[in-house]
Amino acid sequence: MIVCVCHRVSDKTIARCAQQGAGFDELQLEHGVATQCGKCEPSARQIWAECQPSGRLAHLMRATAPSHTRG
Ligand code: FES
Repeated sequence: MIVCVCHRVSDKTIARCAQQGAGFDELQLEHGVATQCGKCEPSARQIWAECQPSGRLAHLMRATAPSHTRG
């Protein structure tokens, strides 16, 4: 499915970049996602966040969890 219509970038491309460890800014530089009209940015960011390598996401979840829930 095309997420960024302006630059014809698909959800698969966004997912692949995220899985390879690219930051959202790198995705923007390489593919132009969310650099024209910007309407795709919320969806693109959501796909990118969901496809981050599990280690990076787990780190963020630990860092933002309330202290009483940390183990
Ligand atoms: S749809 Fe992505 S910048 Fe317009």
